Amino acid sequence: MSCVLLDPQIPEQLALAVELLRRDQPVALPTETVYGLGGRLGSEEALARVFALKARPHFDPLIVHVLGSDDVARLTLELAPLHERLIKAFWPGPLTLLAPKNPKRVPDLCTSGSPFVALRSPEHPIFRQVLEALGEPIAAPSANRFGRISPTRALDVVRELGPHGLEAVVEGGPARFGVESTIVRVVSEREIEVLRPGAIALEALREAAGSDVRIQVRATANATENPDAPGMLASHYAPRAPLIFVEDPAAAAVPVENPGAWSLLIGCAPERLPPEWREKWMRPKWARVSCLSAGDSDSEAAANLFRTLRHLDEVAPPEGGIVALRLPDRGLGLAVNDRLRRAGAKR
Ligand code: TXA
Ligand code: MG
Repeated sequence: MSCVLLDPQIPEQLALAVELLRRDQPVALPTETVYGLGGRLGSEEALARVFALKARPHFDPLIVHVLGSDDVARLTLELAPLHERLIKAFWPGPLTLLAPKNPKRVPDLCTSGSPFVALRSPEHPIFRQVLEALGEPIAAPSANRFGRISPTRALDVVRELGPHGLEAVVEGGPARFGVESTIVRVVSEREIEVLRPGAIALEALREAAGSDVRIQVRATANATENPDAPGMLASHYAPRAPLIFVEDPAAAAVPVENPGAWSLLIGCAPERLPPEWREKWMRPKWARVSCLSAGDSDSEAAANLFRTLRHLDEVAPPEGGIVALRLPDRGLGLAVNDRLRRAGAKR
């Protein structure tokens, strides 16, 4: 069977997406971060199919997508006041919170056996419409094969998961943020741990949490096997072509001998690079130079990241690949660097 692209403006097509979910078939849905591969939370069959379609190992849990606080009360055992504050500040939107799960309502398969569930309330109107029509939460990982680049366009999903048996993708336009949600764990009323930097910038998190809350960012660079959040594996978001992430473009030497076979990926327009970087990095004759933002906008860079990586991967010759320079860590630059670092980690 081939994969259909559903137009949510046509009521029958949206109804078909909901019907498939009811029948425990995974459906890919747009969110404001990246496209998700949705399965009904209440059905182990549906969840198992989501894992299978992605070829995702069962030790890597799924985020549960809900409409709002009512669902949270049902799915969790207790929420800290700090959870509530964060929910108020960022939902609906790209913040995922870990909370102790209600084992009666959240299958172990979804959380990979963990006593914590990851919850988020997406802002995308089409995802919300589907949640409302279905009447139950949807577990949804990013709609890519395990370890590969997340999809920010409906057609990327059709191409990647269609051949593996996905039946339907709901069209929702290009994803607005382009990087996944920020995942946080409330350690105490005074401490938050960021397990995955994402579409909610650290600066915004800091402002909402208040100055007496310490925010720790979990380092991902050398996380390998069995970290607490298993999806935080070092190697992830991987193109097929090799990717070299340059942590310190000021100090590093150009890392390839044949730049003519490689693409250079930078966060801003070349003329906005610091002059010393420009001198070093723009001198080689690269196959192409790709700028994630025409100006110097971290949110634009994030929105363009995965689409650009997919493109550079497609055009890379066998002897070449992608050299990516680290962006400034401000705003969504932190999330972009995290994805590029993991795209470049050894597989
Ligand atoms: O923006 C997003 O979060 C997107 C869209 C579709 O909502 N979803 C997404 O899901 O990025 P995924 O599965 O690609 O990445 C979520 C990561 C998992 O790899 C896992 O490590 C972590 O969230 N996670 C999920 N549930 C967890 C849990 N119960 N405990 C710890 N980590 C969890
Ligand atoms: Mg993912």
